Amino acid sequence: MHALVRPVPRLEGRLSVPGDKSVSHRAALLGAVATGVTEVHGLLEGEDCLRTLRAVAGLGAEVTRKGPGHYMIQGVGLDRLTEPDDVIDCGNSGTTARLLLGILAGQPFTTFLTGDGSLRRRPMDRVVEPLTRMGARVLGRKGAGCLPLGVLGARPLQPIAHVSQVASAQVKSAVLLAGLWASGPVSVTEPVASRDHTERMLRAFGAEVETRRTTATLVPGRPLRGRLCRVPGDASSAAFFLVAGALAEEGRVTVEGVGVNPTRTGLLDALEAMGATLDVRRGDDDGEPVAEVTVSPSRLRGTTIAGALLPRAIDEIPVLAVAAACAEGPTEVRDAAELRVKESDRIHGLVVELGKMGVAVEERRDGFRIAGRPAGGRPALHGARVSSWGDHRLAMALIVAGLLADGPTVVEGIDCIATSYPDFVATCRSLGGEACVEVVA
Ligand code: S3P
Repeated sequence: MHALVRPVPRLEGRLSVPGDKSVSHRAALLGAVATGVTEVHGLLEGEDCLRTLRAVAGLGAEVTRKGPGHYMIQGVGLDRLTEPDDVIDCGNSGTTARLLLGILAGQPFTTFLTGDGSLRRRPMDRVVEPLTRMGARVLGRKGAGCLPLGVLGARPLQPIAHVSQVASAQVKSAVLLAGLWASGPVSVTEPVASRDHTERMLRAFGAEVETRRTTATLVPGRPLRGRLCRVPGDASSAAFFLVAGALAEEGRVTVEGVGVNPTRTGLLDALEAMGATLDVRRGDDDGEPVAEVTVSPSRLRGTTIAGALLPRAIDEIPVLAVAAACAEGPTEVRDAAELRVKESDRIHGLVVELGKMGVAVEERRDGFRIAGRPAGGRPALHGARVSSWGDHRLAMALIVAGLLADGPTVVEGIDCIATSYPDFVATCRSLGGEACVEVVA
């Protein structure tokens, strides 16, 4: 499917975005290994999280859908997952694959995992290596570095103090989750702090987890108890509309109930540094802080996105690149080599596709530099035919670029948007009018 996108001067409206993808995965996984029932409200029903729900059902947890985003998970406790009778297909979802590997490392049976073409290319050695040191046996292509993988768990696992070379919540989470079946404390130290949803949710379910600077430690021994989980709106989904609202000529966009966990708010910080007019009103904090965020048309200037800010904005770089293209002056993104191993090589993809829209962008090993709009108001983005590279976040960022361009844009391959935001096009229309995005077969 393709999107035909027409530029709109005005974006106006209030919206709530679907549930946070990271939190939804974790609610399904912890619900499955807790005792008792976990009731989840606001679970993201995108393809990635549905993969995780199917996986935990395949491992013996009972999953019941009560309504849109409303699920009951009957947990089996730490000792009662069962060997699945078929390969678990993680689809496009790196979070499903890596976090499950952590859980499977502690199970006394064999499980096979695979994924789609993109996921089978992504590095798994970063989790397989520490899990193997803890005692799990993992077999697969490229020295067990890529899916498909077979996992035979061990119990108890060995305690470790893992020092990760990358700031990755997926690595941290896999090792901490494996720690639930270890004979002593398990810690992960990262170069820079990554998102901490796993630590927060483990604590809420009753586990002992401590965080000191960039080291998280799980002390095993406490049972996990099922609970009520309210999933906040996904900050990474809100990002598309916050950038679009800041760059529109007129209107105002408000996103309600969006998660503002400080490990996820790099986009808000970057937009503020670029001069965006933002109003953040904090609401109740139920383990994960939420807010209502309003953005108005703003004159943006270029900025630098690097260092500790990067992991806090890792999934928002594609849409920040669109903001950078329309900002006055240059923007540099550094320390972002991780973007090359996401659902696509996002550095190269952005350089190629924004280049087609007339953006002056220079590719670097660990990021890129965008020259920015010259002072004097020439349109920064030209309508063009561009491709998503099968990557949901590139697809949505390019649709936002199309809304701000000087002529019609075609974004090829938008089916992938269903992995994280099935209603994205409908929400664009609610803000910019029915004609702004048309889906063509
Ligand atoms: C995620 C962590 C990030 C992020 C991904 C979701 C998670 O990946 O890019 O979309 O839910 O833990 P890394 O941990 O690999 O950086």
